[in-house]
Order: sequence, then C-alpha cells, then structure tokens
Amino acid sequence: MSELREAGSNCYKGKNGNRNGAKLVRNKPSKTVSRLLSGQQCAMNDEITDVAGDSKAPDLERTGASPEAIISHYDKGEDFFKLVLGPELIYSCALFESDDDLAEAQRRKLDYHIEAANAANAKRVLDVGCGWGAMLRRLVDHAEVPHVVGLTLSPSQANWIRRQPRPGLEVVEQDWRDHQPTQRYDAIISVGAFEHFVQKGLDPVKKLDAYREFFDFCDRMLVAEGKISLQTIAFSEPHEGHPLLEKTFPDSDLPLIWEPIAAAEGKFVLTTLRNDRDHYYRTLRAWEQNLMAHYAEAIELVGESTVADFRRYLRISATGFRMGIVSLLRMSFQKRM
Ligand SMILES: C[S@@+](CC[C@H](N)C(=O)[O-])C[C@H]1O[C@@H](n2cnc3c(N)ncnc32)[C@H](O)[C@@H]1O
Repeated sequence: MSELREAGSNCYKGKNGNRNGAKLVRNKPSKTVSRLLSGQQCAMNDEITDVAGDSKAPDLERTGASPEAIISHYDKGEDFFKLVLGPELIYSCALFESDDDLAEAQRRKLDYHIEAANAANAKRVLDVGCGWGAMLRRLVDHAEVPHVVGLTLSPSQANWIRRQPRPGLEVVEQDWRDHQPTQRYDAIISVGAFEHFVQKGLDPVKKLDAYREFFDFCDRMLVAEGKISLQTIAFSEPHEGHPLLEKTFPDSDLPLIWEPIAAAEGKFVLTTLRNDRDHYYRTLRAWEQNLMAHYAEAIELVGESTVADFRRYLRISATGFRMGIVSLLRMSFQKRM
C-alpha cells in the first residue's frame, strides 16, 4: 500500500550539495551582525539602512534547491498547473472546514496565515516562496496591505504575477538569502517553500544551520515583535523519502518535525503549532481528481510520462500524509523582544 516504503537505499545526493564549492563559514559575525543578532537592532526604526551591505546573511554554504531545480518543477506552464490546482494556482495544503470545496479551503488557508502573521492592515508584508502570487493578491485586495513583496525562484511564476499587477504588489525572482530591502517588514508569510531550503543528504548539523539561517534572515527583516506564519511539510520521524518525490523536487528535502522549532530558538517564540496532515491528504486527492478530469488536455500540454509521474507523485504524497509518515505543520512565531 505504501509506495513511500519502497524508498529503500536510493538516497539522492543533491548535485549542489557543495554548491559554489564554498566551505561552511561560521566565523564570528561582524559587530553590526552581532548587534542585530543579539536583538539590539533599532527596534523603533523600520529602516534597515543602518546595516547597509552588512544586512546580507553571514556567508554560509548555500543549500537547497537552485533556480534550475525550481524551474524544472514549477515551469511546466500555467495551463497545466491550472488544470490541477485551480485558477488561483495555489500550490500548497488548503485548510478545510466541513464541506468546503478546494477553492474555499485555499482561501481559508490564505486568511489563516494572514491572521496568524498579524498581517491584515500591516504596512509591509513579505511572502517567501510566493508561487503564483495568490497570497500577495489576497493581502492587497482583502487585507488592505499597501506594500507586499513576494520572492520566488521561478521566472514563470514571477511573470504570471506581473501580468496581474496591483499597486504596491512587487515580485522579485530572488533567493531569500539575497533579499536586502531598505525597510523592515511587519510580517512574513512562507507557505510551502521551507521544503526547498536544504537538499537531501546534507549533514544534520548543516541542515539545522541552514534552517537557522532562515530564521536569522526573518529576524533581520522583521520589525520588533513581528510575526512569521510558516507552513511546511515535515517528516514525522526520520525517513528515507521516496525516489519519485526526490526526482519531482530536485535538491530538496523535508525537515524533521522538530527542526523548524529548534532552528527558531533564541530568535523567535513559537506561538501556534498545528499538524494538518489530513488537510493535505484531502488537498492532494482534490488535485488528483482535477488532473483525472482533464487527463487528455494535461497530456496534450506536458506529455504522457510527465502526467503519469505527476499523478504518481500526488498519490504517493497522499499516502504519506494518510499514514502519518509526513506531517503538515502550520506554525507561527513571534520575534523575541
Ligand atoms: C510549493 S511552491 C508554494 C507557493 C505558494 N506559497 C503557494 O502556497 O502556492 C514553493 C515556492 O517556493 C519558492 N522557493 C523555493 N526556494 C526558495 C528560495 N530559496 N527563495 C525564494 N523562494 C523560494 C519557489 O520558487 C516557489 O515559488
């Protein structure tokens, strides 16, 4: 029954495991970074100009999915993804209540994160891994946020967002590690991107360091007491993973269930945590039903083997959530004072 159990020893070694050939550099941070990291940053000042070029992340080994790896999955064309995901192109677990359909449950999920991050009526909100921009549009259209910034590594996602412009809505094709705004954000939302921040086979210490780097980044980006709402899939217990999922999402790996919390320690207080694995099961089944309802059209768009692999990936993932091998974490964190 469980295709996940087939995983065996075919452990994928991320081809970019040592991307840039860079050594792990964990030197003492500069004085400015130390001041920032120790929480002495100008809590009353929204500008990040005080740290100028120094606001960039310390020079750690770059981990996770490269733009090429992201493009290989996400740039199959919006026409294909629309058949599966629906017109808003939301590619992450929905939040169902009673007999919600997929579109209602996806809207509920967007609003859940907006509330959890305290983002409604905020001045500036960052979406790390914004996909095709549904969260950005919801923030502008319904939560009355005057300036939202989305980051994605996918050019086709960025172009899609640019084709539906809104005043104050900005999308940047950029790794969060390279993002250097001049002003802090009031809130950060990140849904379904954390799964791409490390690659398979990474040493556990380096893996946790990579996640810490993300929370350090959020700490630098946020105003005092700012909140993050984070959604990610996680392994409920250590697991080999599945070769097809590794092929589907190259250079990516899931965190263990405790790793995001451990990585946030010292910088953020965990304020809410829920495991909605049954919601991802339901989402994946809905995506599969959509795919099957448009099977011939999907084949015409991306070819038979891509469609077959895509269906298998949806089914394997659904089984993983059903069996509890993987969890769906929705967690919110508040920046420590
Ligand atoms: C599964 S999609 C989720 C999209 C969207 N949040 C949603 O719920 O529909 C993952 C997104 O994360 C982005 N991503 C992955 N790694 C990233 C990184 N290092 N920096 C910025 N974006 C990243 C991808 O480009 C993609 O937009």
